Amino acid sequence: MAALPFIKFKEHSRMKDISIEKFIAGIPKAELHLHIEGTFEPELMFTIARRNNLKINYSNVDALKKAYRFNNLQEFLDIYYAGASVLIHEQDFYDLTWAYITKVNEQNVKHVEIFFDPQTHTNRGISFDVVINGIQRALIDGQRKLGISFRLIMCFLRHLDESSAFKTLEQALPYKKWISGVGLDSSEVGNPPSKFQKVFEKAIEEGFLTVAHAGEEGPSSYIWEAIDLLKVIRVDHGNRCLDDDILVKKLANLQIPLTLCPLSNLELKVVPDLKEHPLVKMMERNLLVTINSDDPAYFGGYMNENYLAVAQALHLSKKQIVQLAKNSFEASWLSKPEKQKIMLQIEEYFQNN
Ligand code: ADE
Ligand code: ZN
Repeated sequence: MAALPFIKFKEHSRMKDISIEKFIAGIPKAELHLHIEGTFEPELMFTIARRNNLKINYSNVDALKKAYRFNNLQEFLDIYYAGASVLIHEQDFYDLTWAYITKVNEQNVKHVEIFFDPQTHTNRGISFDVVINGIQRALIDGQRKLGISFRLIMCFLRHLDESSAFKTLEQALPYKKWISGVGLDSSEVGNPPSKFQKVFEKAIEEGFLTVAHAGEEGPSSYIWEAIDLLKVIRVDHGNRCLDDDILVKKLANLQIPLTLCPLSNLELKVVPDLKEHPLVKMMERNLLVTINSDDPAYFGGYMNENYLAVAQALHLSKKQIVQLAKNSFEASWLSKPEKQKIMLQIEEYFQNN
């Protein structure tokens, strides 16, 4: 018996030495900013294109991957929409979503709140039902087989007009039970949130929660519009809020979460270097920030790679990583008891690692 405390101490001290990489890999996390079309890995894209008898503009996977160099959001979006155009059948949407779920399962992601862009598909003649049935079926399988809980968020493409967004909202109504919220994505500059105020009013009337991409490339005024006009309860990106002191105070006071995407910001030249990423400045100002992957197949990393990249560039401590993991659940749409349960698990993980 006398040896037990000694063994325990040794064990404890050894475990405390785990690298930041392992610490990130093992901690439970939630992903709140993820475009399912942005998880389309080149290998799967070629497989699905082949079975649908479609041609991709690149001769092979390597040639396609070489094209993944972007100077801004629009250059990325052009390739992203082209890639999504090989998705035709319900099974294609299932396979896409299932590939993402199995990938994040390996990364200890326990909860996901994912975007889909119906207009990217309905504008090519694919029916709304085909898209949502494939995605939802894979998410349900992920919950049943892997225990990953989920919410689905339908995004309107902001480069399209208001009437197209209204039509999409109409198509979503029979699937209200499956769709928790609506969001706003695509080309930001020149397409302010105010363009969609009426659509979001109707969405709220119908019971959807609201989020919007704002302040990724666009100005801080777009974040104000997202909050004041679209009544968002979470801001996607929000990097540019730091330009406006009053806005920062508002976001901090109301604890409106920001879903940050570090590798996306780097690849789209929103930041020149991860060392200049605003994450830590935002944490110091008491903003409820989370780490997410956005479009992992295009930006070189899923959740753990995003956490690790900022941890290394900004020298994050384990305590800060724990804070980010806790924030990801706090900012999620899980219930209070679900949040409390996972917070305890994260705290226990911290104590043991
Ligand atoms: N759609 C997919 N990824 C996006 C991003 N980072 N910003 C805006 N729209 C997007
Ligand atoms: Zn995004």
